Amino acid sequence: MKKEKILIFDTTLRDGEQAPGASLTSEQKLEIAFQLEKLGVDIIEAGFSIASPDDFKGVDLIARNIKSSVICALARCLSKDIKAAADSLKRAARPRIHVFLATSKIHLQYKFRKPQEEIIKLGIEGVTYARKLCRDVEFSPEDATRTDRDFLFKVVEEAIRAGARTINIPDTVGYSYPHEIFSLISDIRNNVPNINKAVLAIHCHNDLGMAVANSLTAILAGVRQAHCTVNGIGERAGNASLEEIVMAIKTRKDTFKEVYTDIHTKEIYRTSRLVSNLTGFLVPPNKAIVGKNAFSHESGIHQDAVIKKRTTYEIMDPKDVGIGVSQLVLGKHSGRHALSDRLRQLGFRFDQQKVDEIFRKFKELADKKKEVFDDDLIALAAEETKTKKKMYELTQVQVTTGTNIVPDAYVKIKVKGKINQARSTGDGPVDACYKAVDKITKIKPKLLTYKLDAITRGKDAQGTVRVELNVKKHTYTGKGTSTDILEASVKAYLDALNKIKS
Ligand code: KIV
Ligand code: ZN
Repeated sequence: MKKEKILIFDTTLRDGEQAPGASLTSEQKLEIAFQLEKLGVDIIEAGFSIASPDDFKGVDLIARNIKSSVICALARCLSKDIKAAADSLKRAARPRIHVFLATSKIHLQYKFRKPQEEIIKLGIEGVTYARKLCRDVEFSPEDATRTDRDFLFKVVEEAIRAGARTINIPDTVGYSYPHEIFSLISDIRNNVPNINKAVLAIHCHNDLGMAVANSLTAILAGVRQAHCTVNGIGERAGNASLEEIVMAIKTRKDTFKEVYTDIHTKEIYRTSRLVSNLTGFLVPPNKAIVGKNAFSHESGIHQDAVIKKRTTYEIMDPKDVGIGVSQLVLGKHSGRHALSDRLRQLGFRFDQQKVDEIFRKFKELADKKKEVFDDDLIALAAEETKTKKKMYELTQVQVTTGTNIVPDAYVKIKVKGKINQARSTGDGPVDACYKAVDKITKIKPKLLTYKLDAITRGKDAQGTVRVELNVKKHTYTGKGTSTDILEASVKAYLDALNKIKS
């Protein structure tokens, strides 16, 4: 039997980036896109071009640089959106426009206030216009799983007739259960007369924790393209996770007899680390496939059995997802060449000037730390991909603290290139630092989360601090890394503040 390929449509840079606080610069998006291409993703949804000039720039930059994956841009069913998507894709070797239009009763009644006939007309017009600008058009009836079936069949049929070559079925609010998805996909295949002219796709959200199960069930029901994100990031509870879908298909060949993906699974872990580093979204330790504990065995009985026969307690080989493959260690004697080689292997493409800058920071780090691991390098490289023009830059932080002493912080910050300084006491050393920063920036954000982690092992490990700040009802995340945790704390705070658009 000839197996059929499941196309992997990655929307980390669009739906994933819609996760609150996950904003990425266009340079960071390009870094992720390079890695997605290396991972073997078939279609990269690079952004929602009309949403903002930054989104447009991100799609354009990716379109110019990525050659093997299809580059897709999202558009509402409006000509201005479709035109913006097409413009941003002008330089793409393989462009695709993804047009979406809500079809459920609740969306029609409250969002559009339009009858079904008008929605069908809008869908036809949108797809027809998109086809004039791009040969490859995907259509999504938003909230498809809560849409009246007969109406859904009609919308899909008309979208295909108007030229859509992929029909995506979104479970927009993550409402469905697998048996419902199975029957929905089967019904679409049986009731839409021209369905064979299009590739059928699935797009699941995780509100009830069903995103991956629903996507896999859709594949069993005949879908041949899966929308997903790295680490499952996305709106609200997130999207179906790429690594879970891919590894389920690979591991359970007995169930997924008829299909395969072209994903280079050994790149999965590296991709996960990159996305986590650049978005600032931590991967929970118990996350399937890429969590820190996904392949560690705590119980003695398990450990003993795994040594005797790995498959007693491991259904996947960690090496297949790139864990433990090459944690090359660099040290202070490593040269520029070794560093730049390693950065390339980790998925970063930097020009010589940036490599030189990272090399300088790497030498500083190697002086403080005996061994520099991949995760240390990813953190250094991630710093380099942040916005070039930073409003605030840390110059110095100095804190006096101890038992029975009120912590006292002194910070020096460059604001648009000019040095400013302030001093403050606080409830703890971090609080004192942040109060001193607030005196300079005059922003006074609400600190929603503060999280400190060691990047690698050892007492000399770098600390990474992640913060979430609330400023005027917007959430901004920031990340800072240093061998000094107070410096990391201030860097993270400033990183978040730098994301506020003035
Ligand atoms: O969840 C959703 O419905 C979407 C569409 C734009 C496909 O993200
Ligand atoms: Zn979505």
